[in-house]
Amino acid sequence: MNESDRIYVAGHTGLAGSAICRRLATRGYRNLVTRTHGELDLSQQAAVEAFFREQRPQVVFLAAARVGGIHANDTYAGDFIRDNLLIQTHVIDSAQRHGTRRFVFLGSSCVYPRLAPQPMREEHLLTGPLEPTNEWYAVAKIAGIQTCRAFARQYGFNAISLMPSNLYGPRDNFDLENAHVLPALMRKYHEAKLGLVPEVVLWGSGRPRREFLYVDDLADAAVFLAEQESVGGLINVGVGSDVTIAELASLVRRTVGYDGPERFDAARPDGTPQKLLDTSRLSALGWKPRTTLEEGLRQTYQWFLGHSGHARGYESRRAGG
Ligand SMILES: NC(=O)c1ccc[n+]([C@@H]2O[C@H](COP(=O)([O-])OP(=O)(O)OC[C@H]3O[C@@H](n4cnc5c(N)ncnc54)[C@H](OP(=O)(O)O)[C@@H]3O)[C@@H](O)[C@H]2O)c1
Repeated sequence: MNESDRIYVAGHTGLAGSAICRRLATRGYRNLVTRTHGELDLSQQAAVEAFFREQRPQVVFLAAARVGGIHANDTYAGDFIRDNLLIQTHVIDSAQRHGTRRFVFLGSSCVYPRLAPQPMREEHLLTGPLEPTNEWYAVAKIAGIQTCRAFARQYGFNAISLMPSNLYGPRDNFDLENAHVLPALMRKYHEAKLGLVPEVVLWGSGRPRREFLYVDDLADAAVFLAEQESVGGLINVGVGSDVTIAELASLVRRTVGYDGPERFDAARPDGTPQKLLDTSRLSALGWKPRTTLEEGLRQTYQWFLGHSGHARGYESRRAGG
């Protein structure tokens, strides 16, 4: 990648996209192209095509997607599969036809089978049934990976598909209906600390194991991998270790400084029992994460405190909703 390459970051207002923009700027890339969702709806094929015809980005990071936690995935199954299929198909297709030289697709660790051997390796893709609570989203992401692979095979399209573990960090979504587990926990402990709720209710049994990657580390890996232009296919991006949800909860509790009552609501779904990525392919290329979970939580909570008036999904609470 050259510092003057025209680089399009799709989804630059989101958790991952904003971190990728920050990282690109730090690395000296100065020709970034961005469009908000309002300016360019990527589910509209004609609009995406017109954008690529005009801008012809040499490098594309696809971090735009309809994203959410277990509840949102389950409730809005149709929206999740349709929007993600449309967004990725339009962007990959236009990029290929308008000469994009390097393409980075963001998938997710939920593409792997529910009972995949742990830690999950890239070759476990398509070897078993998916976790039902997010299968619509996962099927769309698998289609994106396979579209990149098929385009590489037929057209020589130079794409790499990143499978990050659970991301968290500044600009996360703190809406309890939509949020992933970590920002949801942070908000719950914060509100309990302020006395807005009498106790913290944690979803599920607390036993599932999850891996958490600080979003600035994901962005660092995404730019690093974009620069390795001879590396393609599928690659896991994670920290290589996991914690139970109960352990995560106690770390978040300590970060927020809450010492009141809490309980688990076992009627809520747990999801996949364990999701730990094997990151040996990425390690062999010479990349490793820098941020510990404790440090990442501290930075995320600091950001939340500084932005709680307009953190995504938190505004309604402040407005009395
Ligand atoms: N968060 C995680 O834990 C995690 C884990 C693994 C992988 N990933 C992957 O990382 C990628 C980004 O996730 P994220 O957590 O950064 O999501 P996010 O914070 O929700 O950001 C998504 C971005 O996509 C934009 N967007 C959504 N629909 C769009 C459309 N139709 N047209 C144009 N823009 C649209 C959003 O804009 P608006 O907000 O304005 O709609 C936002 O900028 C996804 O592919 C996801 O699968 C995320």
